[in-house]
Amino acid sequence: MEKPANTVLIIFGITGDLAQRKLLPALYRLAEENILPPEFRVVGISRRGTTTADVINIIKNRIDAHDGRSAEIFARLEKIISIAAMNIAEGDEYGALTAELERLESEVHHPLNRLFYLAIPASLFQTVTERLGQSDINVHGKDNRECRFLIEKPFGYSLSSAQDLISALDQLFDEEQIFRIDHYLAKETAQNILAFRFENPLFSAAWNREHISHLLITAVESIGIEGRASFYENMGALRDLVQSHLLQLLALVTMNRPSSMSASDIHREKEILLSRIRPPEKGRMEKETVRGQYRSYREETGKTDSLTETYAAIKLSIDTDEWRGVPVFIRTGKAIKEKVTEITLVFFDDKYRMRKNYLTIRIQPNEGIVIDLQIKKPGFGSALEQVQLDFCYGEKLPARASDAYERVLFDAMRADRTLFATSSEVLSCWRITEPILEEWKTPGFPLHIYENNSWGPEAADILIGASGERWLTDTHMVCTVPRIIKSV
Ligand code: BG6
Repeated sequence: MEKPANTVLIIFGITGDLAQRKLLPALYRLAEENILPPEFRVVGISRRGTTTADVINIIKNRIDAHDGRSAEIFARLEKIISIAAMNIAEGDEYGALTAELERLESEVHHPLNRLFYLAIPASLFQTVTERLGQSDINVHGKDNRECRFLIEKPFGYSLSSAQDLISALDQLFDEEQIFRIDHYLAKETAQNILAFRFENPLFSAAWNREHISHLLITAVESIGIEGRASFYENMGALRDLVQSHLLQLLALVTMNRPSSMSASDIHREKEILLSRIRPPEKGRMEKETVRGQYRSYREETGKTDSLTETYAAIKLSIDTDEWRGVPVFIRTGKAIKEKVTEITLVFFDDKYRMRKNYLTIRIQPNEGIVIDLQIKKPGFGSALEQVQLDFCYGEKLPARASDAYERVLFDAMRADRTLFATSSEVLSCWRITEPILEEWKTPGFPLHIYENNSWGPEAADILIGASGERWLTDTHMVCTVPRIIKSV
């Protein structure tokens, strides 16, 4: 495993929601696993008079006592985290950051790679990248120092704003400096998709339209918008989950075999596949897309006439020789009964009209891969029984799986771009979702209100039912006992 080079991680928004929930706990875990570079520092940017002790307290509050908290690790982190107090909108305040970076380099007696993490609202994004790009802080290539930028989604709000953002960044940085995060790609089970597909001849031979009738992708959450009303009201489920995470998962499941497992070869195939995904035709949008909103959303946000979707179900197609004619059903929603992310491939046989096999890749929770099979029910009769053949991470790999953000930070430090989105991927994803978003602006386009803690609007069942399929998750057991599903 290639180790990351000595690095200073500069976090814009160190006290923000993302840093608190994901980044800082990930840093603790990387320290715990002893895989941080030998010389590693963190500079938190804050203008609120935050101290290192405040940051340590945030981490303490986030690390579950049951998972083991170590005073030694907190002490280690305290030594390597410092704060640069500045107003990030003001160009002349960036001197504070330059001074802090120079101080750290003189402390370790050599240059440190700089990894900038922008965990800030999209509205500040352009200002900060411009300041960094034009300043002497971006010393990419100087004294063997590399500068990289870790950028959170959303990458734009629409196709044209994403194009603007990409060209603005292109003028300031080389593409190799930009790491666009899609944390779903960094989930352990998502990383397994390519290995599973391309290292198992049994499945790779049948992974196409000859043998697969449908693809189902579900990513639903039990949480609502959790106080992020102003962010979410302008976002909606299609932009928040589908445009990024779910289309990326779809690409992993359907892209052609790359000529090698290098980042560039994987991205090449992924880009081709994403460019071939088609949204529903204009006249079919009402039949092939569903927009939903959970019952208490308007009350929560105070927007009594909000049309923002907290739920989306869509039917897509893929225009390639391997997948032409295989519908892809994607659904995502908040305030749903359970949190589940999974991909299911439905294997069929037309000639002998056999029962279907469902192969499910469970991304979270109960991570694993399960296949529903038909067997003869033991005994004198000839009845069939549906059972599961499964690989469950919980049983096979009992050690704690790394969190996606640990992987994101680690890979960015060692410049491995495999799990990050390219600009071309981002633009293709906008090209797929944009026609749907446009159609949903039409006055009178249905918005289905669904009950909190339900499985979403019935319209989504009707959408998939029209193709003779059904969503599986509510009845489907994955990596839980019992393994016998039902007699058939
Ligand atoms: C984020 C979305 O990208 O993913 C959130 O902005 C969503 O709205 C989150 O809750 C889900 O991530 P995870 O890793 O908890 O499934």
